[in-house]
Amino acid sequence: MELKEVIGWRRSIRFYLPHRPVEREKVQKMLEAARRASCVGNVNNTRAIVVWKEQASPELIQALTPPLGYQQMQTAPCFIVWYSDAAAYEVNKWIENLKGLAETRRLGSDAEETKRVIEQFLRPAFGSRWQEMAVAPLAFMDSGQAVAQATLVAYDEGLGTCLMSSPLMLDRVNKLLKLPETATIVCVMSVGYPAESWEAGGQTLKAPFEELFHEMEYGRPFAPDPKVDEELKAAKLIQEPAPLPWRDAELKYLVNALNLDERRQISLVIPPSP
Ligand SMILES: Cc1cc2nc3c(=O)[nH]c(=O)nc-3n(C[C@H](O)[C@H](O)[C@H](O)COP(=O)(O)O)c2cc1C
Repeated sequence: MELKEVIGWRRSIRFYLPHRPVEREKVQKMLEAARRASCVGNVNNTRAIVVWKEQASPELIQALTPPLGYQQMQTAPCFIVWYSDAAAYEVNKWIENLKGLAETRRLGSDAEETKRVIEQFLRPAFGSRWQEMAVAPLAFMDSGQAVAQATLVAYDEGLGTCLMSSPLMLDRVNKLLKLPETATIVCVMSVGYPAESWEAGGQTLKAPFEELFHEMEYGRPFAPDPKVDEELKAAKLIQEPAPLPWRDAELKYLVNALNLDERRQISLVIPPSP
């Protein structure tokens, strides 16, 4: 698929075919796409643990389940726990990563001069602040970029995904996955072949374009050109909006076919008290 079409087809998928395994190769491609993402200083702080449901203990699956995740956790055969590792920001490592960019001619134009500037200005600046920077919004933005690239590759490979908020039982998850103390779980992703039609009820509605984007200053909306919208519709980046007329019937069918508890209509899970 063309990139624009992949972006257009991506929407959160919450019902999966539980009997159809996800190929390990496809997960590897997703992880490779995540590894290729942009990240500050090339520190590579985004990490992941792949959890195959059939090999996971019920305790782990229960601990991983976020409040809004019943359908995904019941039906997806694979989960990816994405986390950011603060250790990637440790000042000596960070400086080495930056120097690596200079040595491989990806940063600056003169390797020796770039390395000198890194030592003279960046080492002192990062030396006192790296712990703070390791858990600042920028660090988690890097994870977002990595996860977004993995997501698009998943759709290109015919898979569906849904990101889920961090599980409530974080301490238990950290322990069960043996995560280092420097890890901060960002989100859990369900991965599988959709049980839903590819339309999945239509493209998710978004806030109006002009409300989100501005030109030169806040309050001057970036006015979209209708011709560009038409071009993006032809490229399938903009698709039929939700809800398609048959979505209610599809949801009823999915709940029955997958033997899901209808009382959990919004996929809510209330965790047991510890
Ligand atoms: C960080 C993050 C956490 C999310 N958590 C949940 C969740 O716990 N349960 C859920 O059903 N969807 C979750 N979502 C999916 C969003 O609800 C969804 O992305 C949003 O409604 C937009 O829909 P779209 O992904 O189809 O464009 C999450 C998405 C993100 C990015």
